[in-house]
Amino acid sequence: MAERPVLILNGPNLNMLGVRQPEIYGRETLGDLEALCRAHGASLGLAIDFRQTNAEGELIGWIQAARGTAAALIVNAAGLTHTSVAVMDALLLLEVPVIEVHLSNIHRREPFRHHSYVASAAHGSICGFGSHGYRLALDAVNELLARRATA
Ligand code: DQA
Repeated sequence: MAERPVLILNGPNLNMLGVRQPEIYGRETLGDLEALCRAHGASLGLAIDFRQTNAEGELIGWIQAARGTAAALIVNAAGLTHTSVAVMDALLLLEVPVIEVHLSNIHRREPFRHHSYVASAAHGSICGFGSHGYRLALDAVNELLARRATA
């Protein structure tokens, strides 16, 4: 296991997964997502720290605290993706890999979802693959960490 965990942060309303617009977000709950991340992380030898908050300030605090404590950050900032310069500024503080993830394909949805502040502070973005996107994000983190270890 890597010494530092991969921090996986989820923003507003993602605690309602399973009942929230299931035609868009599916029937899986946040607990199901966490279990998927823990299982896939374990298969890659990555420790996982998985959290959700509805509060922008708490999300920013967690991002700031990731400096020096997390091996990488995977973030689904949910609605804050499209509105929060402050979340983007916090992400720009990090020197570790940052991967943006969304369950839905934000580019196929309403125009206001097409712009992501998070994307401009991320190494890359994954969207449209439902919960599998979190697995893909962990694979990307694993690859980036392996590259850094041999650089
Ligand atoms: C989301 C997409 C956002 O536009 C939306 O506000 C969410 C969830 C996703 O995972 O598809 O809350 O981030």
